[in-house]
Amino acid sequence: MNEKGQGLDVLLTETRRFAPPEHFKEGAVVSDRGLYESASADRLAFWESWAEKLDWFERWHTVLEWDPPHAKWFVGGKLNVSHNCLDRHLNGPRRNKLALIWEGEPGDVREYTYEGLHREVCQFANALKGLGVGKGDRVAIYLPMIPEAAIAMLACTRIGAPHSVVFGGFSPESLADRINDVGAKALITADGGYRRGGIIPLKENADKALESCTTIENVVVVARGADLTAKVDAHMREGRDHWYHELIADASADCAPEVMDAEDLLYILYTSGTTGKPKGVVHTTGGYLTQVAATMQCVFDLREDDIYWCTADVGWVTGHSYIVYGPLANGATVLMYEGGPDWPEKDRFWDLCEKYGVTIFYTAPTAIRAFMKWGEEWPDKHDLSKLRLLGSVGEPINPEAWMWYHRVVGKERCPIVDTWWQTETGAIMITPLPAVTETRPGSATHPFPGISVTLLDDAGAEVEAGFLAITEPWPSMLRTIYGDDERYRETYWSKWDGIYFPGDGAKRDDDGYLWLLGRVDDVLSVAGHRIGTMEVESALVDHPAVVEAAVVGKSHDVKGEVIAAFVTLKGGKDGDDDLVVELKKHVVEKIGAIARPETVIFAADLPKTRSGKIMRRLLKDVAEGKALGDMTTLADPAVVEQLKAQYEAKEG
Ligand code: WT7
Repeated sequence: MNEKGQGLDVLLTETRRFAPPEHFKEGAVVSDRGLYESASADRLAFWESWAEKLDWFERWHTVLEWDPPHAKWFVGGKLNVSHNCLDRHLNGPRRNKLALIWEGEPGDVREYTYEGLHREVCQFANALKGLGVGKGDRVAIYLPMIPEAAIAMLACTRIGAPHSVVFGGFSPESLADRINDVGAKALITADGGYRRGGIIPLKENADKALESCTTIENVVVVARGADLTAKVDAHMREGRDHWYHELIADASADCAPEVMDAEDLLYILYTSGTTGKPKGVVHTTGGYLTQVAATMQCVFDLREDDIYWCTADVGWVTGHSYIVYGPLANGATVLMYEGGPDWPEKDRFWDLCEKYGVTIFYTAPTAIRAFMKWGEEWPDKHDLSKLRLLGSVGEPINPEAWMWYHRVVGKERCPIVDTWWQTETGAIMITPLPAVTETRPGSATHPFPGISVTLLDDAGAEVEAGFLAITEPWPSMLRTIYGDDERYRETYWSKWDGIYFPGDGAKRDDDGYLWLLGRVDDVLSVAGHRIGTMEVESALVDHPAVVEAAVVGKSHDVKGEVIAAFVTLKGGKDGDDDLVVELKKHVVEKIGAIARPETVIFAADLPKTRSGKIMRRLLKDVAEGKALGDMTTLADPAVVEQLKAQYEAKEG
């Protein structure tokens, strides 16, 4: 089994069972197994029935064309995503329903009805057109968690311009890489965004990034910091930079949605892999919206009067699918919050839940573990009685965190949906259905209806514990890697014939429940964020003092994993504490704060096989303070023994 499968024994002895509460079953969106049965009787008809719930300008002629590894869904169909998320709600009572409730970190509040959101999206879509952005042009979005992030995404989809959202925590260099990879024509950013009392200087970062970008013609800047404090100077550059509020003020609210093909590019979103630069995951229009809308309804039991809050950032796929597209396609009321969970105090999330009457709450295990550490007194200060469903996503949830979530947040009343999926899958793939599935703490339970999953070994034989594998194409699957179809084939489709390899290990228990065990490749999960070891190693080697670096994940009680870096300096020199600080800073500058190594160890040599491959497995043993594993293939076993001694001396 993989290195991260150590939790297996614990999981296998997990015997707690939670049946859907009786009160929850009443009026549930999915109340019986019928959905599973109809999907397994005819998978394509099942997905087609979900597509039919969307608004199409023209119906498809073929549900699926599958030419492995390339899929086309709802072939020939024409639709527009912003039309489905906005316009179609305007003809009834949803017109005046709140689409978005937003709270900034300093406490400022803004609310948009569906009508209001539609108006501003149309205005901004026209503003983008006015800047020469049209169908097929790529637009980069680098914004904090403010309403304009959702508005910008929807405005792009309205005019058929694929967006590429870059998380606001990424460095100028990471932003530049992503802008250049997609050849973005416009950039939408803000002067700043609030995070834990400080201001993230997004425009300053963007200006730095643009020094190495040639394709950006116009920059739109949202006045977020200036709005409140007037302290942020956005350094507007004449001719290139435009204030969002000025563009909107002059723009017409009349903007017909572009008629898009089901397989037209909707967005590109970068994610880390084992090798090389982050990959631009490509999602298209019809299949993506179909699966996102279907899972939103069924997994979250979404009803008309729910107040739904997903705590992710729009810079990640969770924000795309379950803050913007899934909820709005279903006419939901979405709460969006700008800042940190512990600002000004450790009860900010619970304060928000109480204040807005949140009924559905979707967050990540790393956040739950932080809440556990902060203590029950924080949620206990607030009335959380409106909550009726809890969700988890991003990494395996350990049973103790699940139990805490269940007891302290859900008051033993709310089902928990542990949802497994990826940037690449676009939408939820493995999950309970809250009124149907008996849950087990730590298990994502079963594939969503219409999704075909199995466990395979390297040779492609079915096993009870091994690699997770997806055996049939699904509507919201990635279509390729932007500009690199070869890498798409290689990364996801070369392990087995015509079967998708997600890179996760998993185990099935005697009752057929699936237990996800984490990544089986060199991808780390730091606070639920995917980071490739290679990316961090490249950033370290980029520093003039470094010749070689190896990065491993080290277990951490809140973040799941943190980064431990082993670094060899030029001339085999030993480094001092100042250099440690400098190297950490260098990585933050190259990638962003999420990639900051927790530990840096200077190593005269790194443990390698005789063919020169660095043995990260042994470095992980060193970092974890464990007994060293099998060393028979090592060129020089003394290297790792010495490192271990050095590490132990340092960590005390
Ligand atoms: C990787 C995908 C899906 C949106 C957020 C992350 C891990 C995700 C679970 C879960 C166990 C999970 C997997 C996956 N993962 N959800 N419920 N249980 N592991 O998207 O950044 O593309 O990361 O996150 O390892 O491969 P992502």
